[in-house]
Amino acid sequence: MIIPADKMAAKWWKFDSKELNKLVYLHGALCEALRLYPPVPFQHKSIWGDDCLEFKPQRWISEKGRIKHEPSYKFLAFNAGPRTCLGKEVAFTQMKAVAAAIIHNYNVQGSGRAAT
Ligand code: HEM
Repeated sequence: MIIPADKMAAKWWKFDSKELNKLVYLHGALCEALRLYPPVPFQHKSIWGDDCLEFKPQRWISEKGRIKHEPSYKFLAFNAGPRTCLGKEVAFTQMKAVAAAIIHNYNVQGSGRAAT
């Protein structure tokens, strides 16, 4: 359920790409969503280890708190090699812009029902 945050309606904030690039945990959360729910399913265990089915955004964050880049042969949501997705960076920027705008400008509440 998404409820507009009334108090903030007057100053609705839209993040620019410089700000979006600093959102390290959001980057990790989006990578985890795409890793666990890719357009085409893959066998994960040999690539990501025993906790491969757990949602762990920290997989994508280095010890220094920066974005940790994994090679595309491990992260297959965008494919790898000559057929790799040309829009990967555009897609990440768009996903971050939408997620950051909703999280910042609205009160988001769970419906109480688990996603299936
Ligand atoms: C989360 C969003 C996206 C995902 C998961 C995704 C995933 C993929 C995948 C798996 C392929 C390879 C298809 C194949 O092997 O035939 C692909 C190809 C491609 N994607 Fe994306 N994509 C996304 C968003 C975008 C966006 C926003 C753009 C454009 C701005 C884009 C442009 C392309 C292009 C041009 C190719 C063809 C590359 C080639 O074969 O030379 N994608 N994408």
